[in-house]
Amino acid sequence: MALSFRNIFVFKLFFTSLFLLGYVEPNISKNHDYTRLKRSYESRRNKDQMGNHLKGHHSGAIFITENSTSVVAQIGGTAKLPCVIRKINNGVVSWIRKEDSPPTILTVGLATYIADERYLVEHARHLQNWGLIIKHVKPSDAGVYECQVSTHPTTSILIRLKVTEASAEIVGAPDLHIKAGSLLRLVCTLRQSTEIPEYVFWYHEQRMINHDPGVSVEADKSNSVLQLNEADTSHNGNYTCYPSNAIPAYINVHVLNATEEENPAAMLHANSSDVSHALFFGILVAVIINLFAVLNR
Ligand SMILES: *[C@@H]1O[C@H](CO)[C@@H](O)[C@H](O)[C@H]1NC(C)=O
Ligand SMILES: *[C@@H]1O[C@H](CO)[C@@H](O)[C@H](O)[C@H]1NC(C)=O
Ligand SMILES: *[C@@H]1O[C@H](CO)[C@@H](O)[C@H](O)[C@H]1NC(C)=O
Ligand SMILES: *[C@@H]1O[C@H](CO)[C@@H](O)[C@H](O)[C@H]1NC(C)=O
Repeated sequence: MALSFRNIFVFKLFFTSLFLLGYVEPNISKNHDYTRLKRSYESRRNKDQMGNHLKGHHSGAIFITENSTSVVAQIGGTAKLPCVIRKINNGVVSWIRKEDSPPTILTVGLATYIADERYLVEHARHLQNWGLIIKHVKPSDAGVYECQVSTHPTTSILIRLKVTEASAEIVGAPDLHIKAGSLLRLVCTLRQSTEIPEYVFWYHEQRMINHDPGVSVEADKSNSVLQLNEADTSHNGNYTCYPSNAIPAYINVHVLNATEEENPAAMLHANSSDVSHALFFGILVAVIINLFAVLNR
């Protein structure tokens, strides 16, 4: 009992000192930093392997998550990199960012190794998952991550993170023409998004209109639909679809009033085609009559 308490104390002391070192020397050269971290990491790993040795385990871990799995997350969102391990053999799980040179150790066991609160290990013992959570995803987070188990020999899988930029798109943009008195219906779709927005605001020019009388806004997983009954010329102008977590989109709405509807050019066109139809049938009838006259001779 006393021994295990002491172990816990030593363990805590170890991590506290690591963090202190990290904070006290923030401008230490990266290489030196890495060597120091790696050395502590190795020594800890060797201790674990001694434990493994005593228990007689030598084999590598068995991963349930497929090697080279790809994960997509949008900028500002949360990335979840899976690492389900069935047989861990008392090894310690670490996440390493391969993109950096030298690679950065992000987490060891359940602890975050670097001074960045965006990284967390999501461990659910019953699910055997040691997933890496990256919060507030940045474009520079894209790349390859290694989930490594310190068994002997070391085994690992690679997970690729792709970072997208979510954006809104309004169907029919940039210009929409509708008749006065008809229904104005705008559909805003999210592209490249991995997370449902908390809200989608609709603006007419500079004013938010979600709660205006006569306006209804309905949302599902990837769309927000704005409806406005009986549009009139006061509804002309620029409409913006503004999701909480994506680049906004715009559309220019042109409400055509009664006089503009009756387009004189279109009427002229209709008349001229009527004339040519009449002419065509007239000639056809004349030809048939002549044909009969010739046959009856
Ligand atoms: C650490 O380095 C950064 C730039 O690399 C600099 O802006 C900062 O002032 C430095 N901090 C200390 C404590 O030297
Ligand atoms: C996963 O793929 C990497 C690179 O292809 C390889 O080095 C590693 O051994 C693989 N891991 C397993 C468990 O097969
Ligand atoms: C529409 O309004 C938004 C926000 O006011 C503005 O950024 C955008 O440039 C406008 N678009 C057009 C085509 O006027
Ligand atoms: C139709 O629109 C034009 C220009 O927008 C305006 O001058 C005219 O008064 C409008 N007519 C009606 C009937 O609203």
